[in-house]
Amino acid sequence: MGDYTLAFKPAIGLYGQHDPSAVLFEDGTPVFGIEEERLTRQKHAPETFPTNAITACLDYCDLELAHLDEIYLPYDPHLRSRIRSHYISDALRAPGVTRKLSALEETLVSEVQSKVAPTRKIENRLAEIGTPVPPIETRSHHRCHAASAFHPSGFDDALVMTIDAKGEFDSTVIWRGHQGGLTRVKTYEHPNSLGLFFAIITEYLGYRMFNGEGKVMGLAPYGEENPEIERTLRNLIDTGAEYDVTELTKRWGTGYGVERLEKEFGRTQKESPESFTQWEKDLAYTTQKLLEEIVTDIVRTYAPGIGSGNVALAGGVALNCKLNKAIRETAVVDDLFIQPVAHDAGLALGAGWVGQRPSAVEPLTDVYYGPEYDTAEIESELQTNKIEYEEPENLERYVAERLADGALVGWFQGRMELGPRALGARSILADPRTAASRDRVNRFVKHREEWRPFAPSMREEAAAEYLVDGQPAPFMINSFDVDPEKADDLTAVVHPADETTRPQTVREDQHPRYHRLLTEFEAITDVPILLNTSFNDHGEPIVNTPTEAVKDFYGMGLDVLVLEDYVLEKDAPNTPTGRSLDVTSRDSSRSTFVAADDNHGTGSAGRHADAGTENSNGEPTATTRILSNISTR
Ligand SMILES: [Fe+2]
Repeated sequence: MGDYTLAFKPAIGLYGQHDPSAVLFEDGTPVFGIEEERLTRQKHAPETFPTNAITACLDYCDLELAHLDEIYLPYDPHLRSRIRSHYISDALRAPGVTRKLSALEETLVSEVQSKVAPTRKIENRLAEIGTPVPPIETRSHHRCHAASAFHPSGFDDALVMTIDAKGEFDSTVIWRGHQGGLTRVKTYEHPNSLGLFFAIITEYLGYRMFNGEGKVMGLAPYGEENPEIERTLRNLIDTGAEYDVTELTKRWGTGYGVERLEKEFGRTQKESPESFTQWEKDLAYTTQKLLEEIVTDIVRTYAPGIGSGNVALAGGVALNCKLNKAIRETAVVDDLFIQPVAHDAGLALGAGWVGQRPSAVEPLTDVYYGPEYDTAEIESELQTNKIEYEEPENLERYVAERLADGALVGWFQGRMELGPRALGARSILADPRTAASRDRVNRFVKHREEWRPFAPSMREEAAAEYLVDGQPAPFMINSFDVDPEKADDLTAVVHPADETTRPQTVREDQHPRYHRLLTEFEAITDVPILLNTSFNDHGEPIVNTPTEAVKDFYGMGLDVLVLEDYVLEKDAPNTPTGRSLDVTSRDSSRSTFVAADDNHGTGSAGRHADAGTENSNGEPTATTRILSNISTR
């Protein structure tokens, strides 16, 4: 048995309120990791102890809690006291005497707990999973963010930036990453918080903090320069490397900042994030612009002193892929690594790595740390539920044909991704070439705002061809301009307002089957790209189990569901071609399906030469050949 350690992010008490997760390390290497939301099915799993995630980690290696050598928590309660005065002031501002006293009592209790028994609550919860509870070590929040970015970056040295709302007393920290570890260079203390600044705008525009920030970023390109908005914001905050946003963020939470914005702009907070006015789009634009101005100025200021052109990023603000593009394009930056689980769920990775030599940590090339389900389990599940399924001989070719026909495909393959992006393990896929395809995904599947862009997966080999300054970008956390000559090939996955895209590049070793699917799609269409959006319904976490995938398949307007080796089709696909399998022609003695060539008279066979049973050369198409060999079990 190896040496096992566990790192997890609780979301209770002193340890934050959102995005709990757990990662199991074997001999210092992560072997399993999952966010609690995937198991509770409540997005971000607020105020939750990650019992399910911890248990899943232990089960993966058939361990008891007592088998662990050590447990790491990515928050050091002792460091809270540095901003004790802020907690007390916030408590004193609570409305009414009763709430004031209650808030003060809560602050006092937290203060005592952080000094006397910082991990007792955690120990008690762990004891419900197993005893004896292994030793627990607490590690600074931002140091864990920093290690999560630098240690797996592959860099020998780097400017490391950790930017979030708050962790202990830190809001933004500049580090020098080197082979000895991480040296703190500059700290922007709470409440001088870029995460909170962006969250306040997010709430002002009608979204929720820690949830709608990405949507505000997506809205920004629809805005324009607006001198009145910019003047007002610049009067409230200082930009540049010595930024100061405390006029808006001086009190924890978004309430104070939103009230300030209401007063300064003379406009009330938006009730719900629907049908944005041009002014609101301009506010998103200006906010994004100022954020980029601040962070790129920090990079320009500190990179020369650190003496490295490498930059590594983590913390919730690093999920802002537009900001990441601006950093990448800053002249002093040669190479940029963004840890893809940049928000607090990724702290569990950093907590496990922070005590290791950076060079001992393997470069991160994928985040498939979650559960997987073998075909026997899936088969049993489908048979129990009396669901028809097929097993194509050439699954990737079959699915590529269906995608080229316009089908919306649920794609469930291998170990689930850790982090917010679906990367070909729990994805919904579609043809990237037309706006109509994007609209079908919105209308039938994701039920989300039509203006929000989708993102592509592409063969890594194609990045240089399709992207300006294209380079490997395996995590959908960095955006690029699209080569104008290639833009028509990926209409569905380009931001309509600024013509950028946020790709996942895929290498064979990262996900062999997904890479094969992209290759097959290219063989049919000449385009090695697919629209890839997360496999979940609006507002829900990404699916984890085959059962959840099947439920979503029938609850959403998907045409095809691929569960490992098996394919489920709906009887009446709402695709342009409407190709379906004729189950009535199945030979009952051997359960062999044949091609139905059922185009429902609405087909786009003319659009793709081999979308019918014969291609332009009069030969059977790949789909026809495959369908004639499909068998059930
Ligand atoms: Fe954080």
